[in-house]
Amino acid sequence: MKLAAAIYEPHDLTGETLGFLAWHIPDLVVYQHITDEWWLAPLDDNLPLIRLNRTGLDLLRAMTGHTTVGTLVEQYGTKICGPDGQPGEWHLARWRLPTTHFAITGLSHPAATGIKPSGIFCCSRSAKAGLGKMDLRAKEHLEAFHLHDLAQSEGDDRHFDLIETTVSHLFREPSEALAGLTYGQLLIRQLRRLGWFNPKPKVLLEIGGGLGYVAQELGKGLLPFEKQGIAYLSLDITEPFLKLQVSRAKAGGWNVTGTRANAESLPLADHSVDLVIDNENMADMTPVQLSRNELTSGIGDTPQHQEALDWIRRLRLPIEADLPESVIFNLGPIRFVAELWRVLKPGGRAFLTEFGIEQGWPGPVKLPGHTEYEVQYSHLRQAMRWLGFQERYLSLPEFLGLKPDTKVLCTVVTYTIQRFCQAINRPFSVRAYTEKELRQALGDMLPKLQGLHYHDLADPAWFGLQDFKVLLLEKPGGAPKAQFTENKGYRWYSQK
Ligand SMILES: C[S@@+](CC[C@H](N)C(=O)[O-])C[C@H]1O[C@@H](n2cnc3c(N)ncnc32)[C@H](O)[C@@H]1O
Repeated sequence: MKLAAAIYEPHDLTGETLGFLAWHIPDLVVYQHITDEWWLAPLDDNLPLIRLNRTGLDLLRAMTGHTTVGTLVEQYGTKICGPDGQPGEWHLARWRLPTTHFAITGLSHPAATGIKPSGIFCCSRSAKAGLGKMDLRAKEHLEAFHLHDLAQSEGDDRHFDLIETTVSHLFREPSEALAGLTYGQLLIRQLRRLGWFNPKPKVLLEIGGGLGYVAQELGKGLLPFEKQGIAYLSLDITEPFLKLQVSRAKAGGWNVTGTRANAESLPLADHSVDLVIDNENMADMTPVQLSRNELTSGIGDTPQHQEALDWIRRLRLPIEADLPESVIFNLGPIRFVAELWRVLKPGGRAFLTEFGIEQGWPGPVKLPGHTEYEVQYSHLRQAMRWLGFQERYLSLPEFLGLKPDTKVLCTVVTYTIQRFCQAINRPFSVRAYTEKELRQALGDMLPKLQGLHYHDLADPAWFGLQDFKVLLLEKPGGAPKAQFTENKGYRWYSQK
């Protein structure tokens, strides 16, 4: 792969550029490696770490938004600014590159232009939070990405650390923010509270299980006898992930079988599944881009577009008068819930979670290598009701009962620390760290880091957790259940 550094030409430090004001992003994370050497990490992982000596650090600190590039060139241009021997001018010409993203120049300070640098640079790395420009090729290649590109993946944590970090991945280890539980353990606790394991399901289907941590931790949250008699089916489109899912589900004590398939067309018999868990993969399912003309005429340019238009008509989804030239429709998630309706037994249930919106048409979320699409929940819920499901809809933090003001390390800071740790061969995993957990993880390295900062769990700048929604579905028609109320240790039953 061509290094990003080679794609962008350094800036010419002449003419009007010399009059630009220079600043660096706030909350920069700096690691002091040895006495006279500090490291910074560009947001682009293809670029090497930036190594500065004390003079280089002074240059960076002088970029306050009140000093011009010309003044900095005069003061630091010829001075050696790092252990690699490059002068200040070399750094100034490169720090503004779009891939470096930690020092920029412009005609005025960002505060004066209304730009909030922290919003742009500091926290936008959150994998599901950064809305990008629509990339139509990426849309067409979403399935190919899972079938082919990920088939080459090593299947270790790296893909989920860097490319599509999920909530469950951030909480795959016991976390102070989840009262000492992992995401999977908390999930099974909540499902048990809902009564979904009473009676226990015979067939539990997990769709798109990623690296298998959810399966493993769901298993740890149940006692061996509670798992007895449950067949755990892992279904995923990506072969290497499936292998990990099966081995981690076994580690969690499940009697597991893995199937490679697309969840939009389940290779399962009608009425054969009791419980479905689908954690953060609906945004990967087929999106369709429909033109204004197609929407207004109801006639699709391709059979797939016609299928999408037929769903829109059937569900009576509102089409606004002032339509944009084209819109995205979540065909894949709608096909998926129709499949759920088919394969679930009467009384069967499904837990679905993904990030999404409630109004308008879904937008793209650009991730390295592929683009995902927000789930439009008012459309999806309309489909569920049309199919006949009983549904409950709430936010993921609400479902998990999270304390919104728990402080967790900024995800960008976490990625940056991981880069420093890789350079010194020190293990460090990408997770949601509280202050105490970070202290335990970093030990003597912690005082060498500057610029660490924390967010409230509910702060949209952290991971946009509030945008993750939960759908709890039940297919009516199950066996009537004995209802009871509890009073002073006695249960009073009534048959409904
Ligand atoms: C973003 S990951 C989520 C992984 C995991 N559930 C988690 O919470 O970390 C999406 C997962 O869904 C799988 N996937 C994507 N599209 C799929 C499809 N159409 N059918 C089945 N699996 C799919 C991917 O291979 C991957 O394992």
